Amino acid sequence: MKPIQVGLLGIGVVGSGTFNVLARNQQEIKRRAGRGIEITMVADLNVARAQELVGPNVQVVSDARAVIGNPDIDIVIELIGGYGIAKTLVLEAIAAGQHVVTANKALLAVHGTEIFAAASAKGVMVAFEAAVAGGIPIIKALREGLTANRIQWIAGIINGTTNFLLSEMRDKGLDFAVVLKEAQRLGYAEADPTFDIEGVDAAHKATLMSAIAFGVPVQFEKAYIEGITKLGAADIKYAEQLGYRIKLLGITKRTSAGIELRVHPCLVPAKRLIANVEGAMNAVVVQGDAVGTTLYYGKGAGSEPTASAVIADLVDIARLHTADAAQRVPHLAFQPNAMSDLAVLPMSEVVTSYYLRLRVADETGVLAKVTGILAQAGISIDAVLQREADEISGEAQVAQTDVIILTHDCVEASMNAAIEEMQALPSVLEPITRIRKEELA
Ligand code: HSE
Repeated sequence: MKPIQVGLLGIGVVGSGTFNVLARNQQEIKRRAGRGIEITMVADLNVARAQELVGPNVQVVSDARAVIGNPDIDIVIELIGGYGIAKTLVLEAIAAGQHVVTANKALLAVHGTEIFAAASAKGVMVAFEAAVAGGIPIIKALREGLTANRIQWIAGIINGTTNFLLSEMRDKGLDFAVVLKEAQRLGYAEADPTFDIEGVDAAHKATLMSAIAFGVPVQFEKAYIEGITKLGAADIKYAEQLGYRIKLLGITKRTSAGIELRVHPCLVPAKRLIANVEGAMNAVVVQGDAVGTTLYYGKGAGSEPTASAVIADLVDIARLHTADAAQRVPHLAFQPNAMSDLAVLPMSEVVTSYYLRLRVADETGVLAKVTGILAQAGISIDAVLQREADEISGEAQVAQTDVIILTHDCVEASMNAAIEEMQALPSVLEPITRIRKEELA
């Protein structure tokens, strides 16, 4: 059979990895796909550099529209990123009857409903394994491997940059701003790391996993997002003393009240495997009713790990290209006419447990007032740790101490109200730190 022809839009880190892995493993891939897969066109603004990367046998153009709608190109790989021109080009490729492979989590998390509907109407595939957790085949696992299950929850370390920063903070006892600066200097964090450190990138990925796990539309706008910029070395240390690690988790859960979709720093018991995922690695835990707990671990970014996911999609498409569109795996795992309208819960309705740190004046009755407010709000305390006052550095006028409280589960709205009340106590000297806690049992 004639090799399937692929056009690549953007040959940066992932694009060049895709080209190289496809070339290196072409025989192995052909044995699996049943036919050859060839990148025959590349569109990139830097034509000379692109031509150098792919050699003389591949046509390089500067205009992506020479690839879109080109009858010789069966599959378009979109590696441009962002919601702008990438969206236009993906929709144009679909309209032209071309299959699309993309690593663009932002595009699909925000515009997935429109894009998947257009693809279904046209009978083409939009494959996006590379959009979530890079080289880890988590989309495949959720959409196919776990298809027997009623999935209950997913919790993942799905942003390598932030996991690297948190590992550095813990290893070196440094605050966030210090490790970020060093990571940028070494090129481990982007010059503009906003999407990573504010949790937006993780929320894009959590949104996609949530949709596939529960058969709901992609709803990025309803995700609760909190990044790691306010975390201090002290909290990482206290968490450790209590038997926990702090990780930025993307969490989605199905509850009787609705779906939780949230990204925030989280205390995780140090004995959980996911708590021990260090550096830029990614890991995703999935809980299904039949299978129980499963864990997926690997590189969530990088040239060849992400290329591994892109090429897996190319192979899927090569195999299913001639199949009846109705027999293919649905984009979001569930048939488009069988999607659920279970609502995403506002954060105020989410039930979880908490770590609180209060810098207080070290005087009689403070702890009683604080615990009294929690009791009044119906919030049960699990553990309390008080740091020795003489360990507090600085030139404070009054003796100060840190009180650390772990709570049992309560609804977030109750915790918000209790924090507001505790904050108003004259003996509470600084903004209260609140970090959510997940047992992931
Ligand atoms: N910037 C992401 C990360 C990789 O740090 O994991 C691409 O989503």
